[in-house]
Amino acid sequence: MKNNQTNNDSNKQKTMKPINKFEFKPLLYSYDALEPFIDKLTVEIHYSKHHKAYYDNFMNAIKGTDMESMDIMDIFRNISKYPMAARNNGGGYFNHIFYWESMKAHGGGVPTGKLSEAITKTFSSFDEFKKQFSDAGKTRFGSGWAWLCLDDKGNLFVCSTPNQDNPLMDIAEKKGIPLLTMDVWEHAYYLKYQNKRADYIDAFWNVVNWEEVARRYETALKSLGPK
Ligand SMILES: [Fe+2]
Repeated sequence: MKNNQTNNDSNKQKTMKPINKFEFKPLLYSYDALEPFIDKLTVEIHYSKHHKAYYDNFMNAIKGTDMESMDIMDIFRNISKYPMAARNNGGGYFNHIFYWESMKAHGGGVPTGKLSEAITKTFSSFDEFKKQFSDAGKTRFGSGWAWLCLDDKGNLFVCSTPNQDNPLMDIAEKKGIPLLTMDVWEHAYYLKYQNKRADYIDAFWNVVNWEEVARRYETALKSLGPK
């Protein structure tokens, strides 16, 4: 009887949908960890209000739809088939997790290893890459994101997306696997930098978590398989 009960419980667990597969992930650092480059109040409001609102609205947008049981990558790959609420809030939910984990306290410096070689090979120098990525953020009209991505041939490229779109979405101008992102919505910098987006972008380089970007690069390369 006990064994049957255990088996029943086990089968039930296998067939049950997870209560919430989309997690509002905790920040990996304290609100003041990115000071003085990104201030405590900005991180606190950005994470606990803006990011949380995207998460809550995404949960509402997918409730009772097939998206509830889908991987977020599959949702993005088919985002043109879904309502704008899923695109805006799903992007906002995912992009912010990716942004928070693109940064760390005492970050910055330069990438090392394979990633460093690939950046130099693609952009001719690290400084030229920084310029192109910074320009992508500076020239994004209105609100959006700058990205470093890997394309399906294994090449790096820089791009930007409007609103809460990202390069994983089927509607993206150029699709790729994201490696690094920078939020250029005003809510990411206005309290400290007001209208000076360029100053926020300059400061951003001091908090980049290059170890995480390098890890993403290795994982992305492996996902493409042998060339
Ligand atoms: Fe944001």
